[in-house]
Amino acid sequence: MTDMNGDHGTEGTDPAILTEELTRTYRMGGQDIPALRGVNLVVPEGRYMSLKGRSGSGKTTLLNCIGGLDTPTSGVVRIFGESIDQWTERKLTMWRRMTVGFVFQSFGLMPSLSAYENVELMLRMSGAKGRQRRAKAVECLELVGLTRWMHHRPFELSGGQQQRVAIARSLANSPRLILADEPTGELDTQTAREILGLFQKIVREQQVTVLMVTHDGLSDEYVDEILYLSDGAIAEQQPAVRERDPAIPNPADVRVLPVSDVQAAAPDTEEAPDPPSAPAES
Ligand SMILES: Nc1ncnc2c1ncn2[C@@H]1O[C@H](COP(=O)(O)OP(=O)(O)OP(=O)(O)O)[C@@H](O)[C@H]1O
Ligand SMILES: [Mg+2]
Repeated sequence: MTDMNGDHGTEGTDPAILTEELTRTYRMGGQDIPALRGVNLVVPEGRYMSLKGRSGSGKTTLLNCIGGLDTPTSGVVRIFGESIDQWTERKLTMWRRMTVGFVFQSFGLMPSLSAYENVELMLRMSGAKGRQRRAKAVECLELVGLTRWMHHRPFELSGGQQQRVAIARSLANSPRLILADEPTGELDTQTAREILGLFQKIVREQQVTVLMVTHDGLSDEYVDEILYLSDGAIAEQQPAVRERDPAIPNPADVRVLPVSDVQAAAPDTEEAPDPPSAPAES
């Protein structure tokens, strides 16, 4: 579990994700549709991994089973050593809020709320107190480079900026794992690069693990490893072949910093944030 300062508590040697013989079969119109057929997967902590495969190969189903949004038919799902497959819905919901950040293709922002309020809502839902909530929301928006836009509502932002808000929101509760389903699907090439690079920065600087479903060939230049699904099973898992930017340290060499220290170490070039307008206490 993470605390509100972004400290990841008891870091162990357990992989971020481990699945054993994971299956998920949907029943539709009297027919069984096997979406996952025995997935054995290990994703070490601090890895940036893409998940590829044809439409219908089971990518979203796998992501949902890993994030506790869907219940496997059989098999084991262990996240940071905890078997989540037998948990009650209530326990899963609490765990998800504190441990997993979700990012989707269509952003999923609340249209009537500003960028700041969208992020802050996440913290409100997990029970964070007012002052801490405000500071953390600002911190997350700074991290994704949106300080100047935090009082804009989604329709006043570009697609890339909206996806940055969604990423800031996914970071609000300092998750150890981020699950993203085609996060660059609606973005142009340049903006997609920004988002792919932003995930890379988050993985490097905060030791977060990212599993990202993508059809985007560009992603190979950013991720550490690529996982291919075919017909509900892993066809291949291979390291991404790319020129390593010498400016980007190896994940193994990166010191884990809480978000606030990362900000201090690498200040944003943007203007200092306006203090957020204080939302009413709930
Ligand atoms: N809720 C559901 N009910 C019935 N069948 C489903 C359900 N969700 C997924 N499936 C089926 O499971 C299989 C895998 O679907 P999934 O959404 O995981 O594929 P995907 O790899 O994410 O595809 P895409 O790239 O198009 O998003 C498909 O055959 C799909 O029709
Ligand atoms: Mg999908």
